[in-house]
Amino acid sequence: MAAAAGDGTTRRKTACVTGGSGYIASALVKMLLEKGYAVKTTVRNPDDGEKNAHLKTLAALGPLEVFRADLNEEGSFDDAVAGCDYAFLVAAPVALMPENAEEEVIQPAIQGTLNVMRSCVKAGTVKRVVLTSSTAAISSRPLEGDGHVLDEDSWSDVEYLRATKSGTWAYPASKVLAEKAAMAFAEENGLSLVTVCPVVVVGGAPASKVKTSVPEVLSLLSGDDDMVDNLELIEKASGSIPLVHIDDVSRAEIFAAEEATSGRYIVCTLNTTAVALALLPGGQVPAVRDQRRPHWSSSGEAEGEHLVGQAHQGGVRVQVQEPGRDIRRPRRLRQDPGTP
Ligand SMILES: NC(=O)c1ccc[n+]([C@@H]2O[C@H](COP(=O)([O-])OP(=O)(O)OC[C@H]3O[C@@H](n4cnc5c(N)ncnc54)[C@H](OP(=O)(O)O)[C@@H]3O)[C@@H](O)[C@H]2O)c1
Repeated sequence: MAAAAGDGTTRRKTACVTGGSGYIASALVKMLLEKGYAVKTTVRNPDDGEKNAHLKTLAALGPLEVFRADLNEEGSFDDAVAGCDYAFLVAAPVALMPENAEEEVIQPAIQGTLNVMRSCVKAGTVKRVVLTSSTAAISSRPLEGDGHVLDEDSWSDVEYLRATKSGTWAYPASKVLAEKAAMAFAEENGLSLVTVCPVVVVGGAPASKVKTSVPEVLSLLSGDDDMVDNLELIEKASGSIPLVHIDDVSRAEIFAAEEATSGRYIVCTLNTTAVALALLPGGQVPAVRDQRRPHWSSSGEAEGEHLVGQAHQGGVRVQVQEPGRDIRRPRRLRQDPGTP
């Protein structure tokens, strides 16, 4: 990916990706490098060798610089954004059940987004800001009767969320408020902004640990009850479990930078259910398909456990145990998804 330089030569286009330690940002950094971009990414703690190990590996793909930056610190992103053609705002607080919603999630999401955008204005080189929002900013609202279709013009209802404070209310509220603040700021400051709104993201990524979405979708395998509860919440809130592959999210982000002109883009591949998900892996992993009653674990191999198969799904190591060794208590799955 090259751009004309002032002296008649060409130079690599440069993109800033915030939150390079995270799941989605790590995949986006990889795809940008593979496309020939020079990439500047930010992490909160560059000294955390374990969390940032994938960035060292990715540096073999092309020019990659890592900067320290915190959403809560004004001016923190100036160096990372300086000289960039595109800024991908991916970093955000993603705590689903914070103790103090305003302090931990809502205000950092809004102020952090504006901080990076102020750095973009200072840089004076940024042609497009791509903000990673979420369909949580679209679908968390009461429906107006049967057949009410939600699309890119729809917004989650922040007043309703603040009044009911149910479930993971702070996250969708933070995504709406950050997106709306970004739109107003872009308008006032002449920045070109496009928003990408993915559904639940799955698939392998360079980041070694994934805290959100993948553990929830794999919870039917791992038996992590908290994550099963989150999965049920997702299904209840949206009437389905909507999924998109992380590579498609990265492609959408790059499309939003290079080709889109404005607006919001929902990024979704399929809408499924917990029951359909529960049936999926057994059909696709040969070691499981060939067992009569497969049982799964995502934990390490326990004493006496016999590992009969292993696969990589969603960047998480999935182990297949012999039948008869059920390490998680059985769960009843809701078959009749609720509506918000
Ligand atoms: N995963 C999904 O299914 C999904 C779906 C729709 C939208 N999204 C959005 O996609 C974005 C990335 O999510 P993810 O799934 O990749 O989550 P993630 O792996 O938890 O990544 C979040 C990133 O944000 C950084 N961050 C959090 N607070 C920060 C702060 N105060 N200052 C600087 N950086 C901070 C984290 O840094 P640390 O490593 O230092 O904590 C991490 O790099 C978020 O905006 C999320 O809302 C995700």
